[in-house]
Amino acid sequence: MNKRKFLKNTVMATTGMTVVPSLVLSSCKTEPKKEETVEPEAAAATATSFVLPPLPYGYDAFPDTIDAMTMEIHHSKHHQGYTNKLNAALKEANISGKTIEEILTMDELPTAIRNNGGGFYNHSLYWDILTPGNEGMSETLATKITEDFGSEEAFKNELATAGAKRFGSGWAWVCQDGDKKLHICSTPNQDNPLMKVAEQMGTPILGIDVWEHAYYLKYQNKRGDYLQNIIKIINWDKVGSRMS
Ligand SMILES: [Fe+2]
Repeated sequence: MNKRKFLKNTVMATTGMTVVPSLVLSSCKTEPKKEETVEPEAAAATATSFVLPPLPYGYDAFPDTIDAMTMEIHHSKHHQGYTNKLNAALKEANISGKTIEEILTMDELPTAIRNNGGGFYNHSLYWDILTPGNEGMSETLATKITEDFGSEEAFKNELATAGAKRFGSGWAWVCQDGDKKLHICSTPNQDNPLMKVAEQMGTPILGIDVWEHAYYLKYQNKRGDYLQNIIKIINWDKVGSRMS
């Protein structure tokens, strides 16, 4: 899916309409049990909310890279938590009818929307660009990476270094600039390069979570090992499809 389609399909907070991210679609909908009554207030809240994208693979998809318990907690607790808190913050700020990208590129982001909107967007991208069936880069992407970074090896080393050097919690990114050039950067906490507070802005095409909750059960303090391994399960087709 290309970037245009991703943006078109991505989540919106719209009164009376539920639009689910491109990564999600129908399988993420939670159908109420037949005997369950949905109160009008709850139904209205759901219709104006962002929805947690389901994973495109199982929690046990990466036994050699990320353990199933980490995957489950990360997705069902952390990502769900960001989603819930984003919805609450948007309601508090009376913001609706915007895509997550439109929200994150606003001039002034309330702290709760910055943190939880970032958490929602960042994790949605993170899950989407992983795969248990990695088949390597397309020739087009490999050529672009060689042009911008010198070699595929240099690119991967720079990406791993960006994640390793991030002090505390944050993310390592591959982004595309307005002039189509790719660059690697890092952001703290749940910030991302879409935000105007970012040191280096750009359109993210790949994001790696370096919060301890992403790797600590399996890797403890060895963030570098996590980075080396997660780069091996990147879905390069998805990454390439995000380039404009
Ligand atoms: Fe995370």
